Amino acid sequence: MTGSERGAGDHADSHSADDYSADQHSADQHSAERAHRDFTRSLSYGDYLQLDTLKAAHRPVTAAHDEHLFIAVHHVSELWLELIVRELEAAMAQLAGGITDAPLKGLTRVVRAQEQLTNAWEVLKTMTPADYLQFREAFGQASGFQSAAYRLVEFLLGNRHATLLGPHEHRPEVHARLSAALHAPSVYDLTLRLLAARGLPLPPEVLARDPCLPPTPHPAVLDAWLTVYRDPDTYWDLYELAEKLLDVEDNFRRWRFNHLTTVERTIGLRRGSGGTSGAGYLARALGVVLFPELWEVRTNL
Ligand code: HEM
Repeated sequence: MTGSERGAGDHADSHSADDYSADQHSADQHSAERAHRDFTRSLSYGDYLQLDTLKAAHRPVTAAHDEHLFIAVHHVSELWLELIVRELEAAMAQLAGGITDAPLKGLTRVVRAQEQLTNAWEVLKTMTPADYLQFREAFGQASGFQSAAYRLVEFLLGNRHATLLGPHEHRPEVHARLSAALHAPSVYDLTLRLLAARGLPLPPEVLARDPCLPPTPHPAVLDAWLTVYRDPDTYWDLYELAEKLLDVEDNFRRWRFNHLTTVERTIGLRRGSGGTSGAGYLARALGVVLFPELWEVRTNL
């Protein structure tokens, strides 16, 4: 019975006969279900997911209400970043083996995870500058600038600078992983090798370029993509791969832009906790281009 169907004498908090029968029905329903109840000898939901461990990592260092939000959004973002790393690495292993269609599945997952990362800003933006200042001093020099997972995503995608290894020197394992990614081909390098394997002419300076450097546009790469984009029927798998990479870069830009906007509305032009100029540094990063020729090809078609 809905509120509007109640008689004038009914009170919203009083139970009607219908309500009781509905309650009884749901109780019966639950007892009839053979849901497992004894977890003395098997893993429960919380055991399997190690929820105690997960929650133990949520440890605000002040009494500020919004520090919980700040920590939760960072934790969730780190989990998505780890997933993105796994998916990128798996897709790159397939690309290195000459496979073009299977990596699309993993890259699609990357794109969806990026959407979740970008949506997280909407929750964080409910925090006011004054809320933030209540706990800002408590985390000292800690900053997302030191996020190993984020840096690994950037390295895998090709935005690489050896100096960015610096903040990880105190963690040899993390440093080694990042360093290995820095010296290995990026997802774009692997894609260009596939173009060459399909007979599209690419010079040695493209195929054997120094992987430690960020991508620099090359006319031969542009020509190769022009061939693919002018005749997608012949090169459908490469065309689809290129468009998927573009989706990844598109989403990466959205994340960066929303981060910058959130930072500006929270700390204005204050310096970052990581020691950079803050909004100025992040604004410069908006100019980063991961797959230059995939954008340029549109102008030249
Ligand atoms: C109100 C919340 C936030 C503020 C005020 C903020 C502020 C900043 C600032 C100023 C920087 C520049 C580096 C520095 O610290 O000097 C930065 C970098 C960064 N932040 Fe945030 N941030 C916030 C939330 C987040 C969240 C939720 C994440 C999620 C992981 C994140 C990830 C990063 C990353 C990965 C960088 C490095 C970007 C790069 O090097 O291009 N930030 N942040």
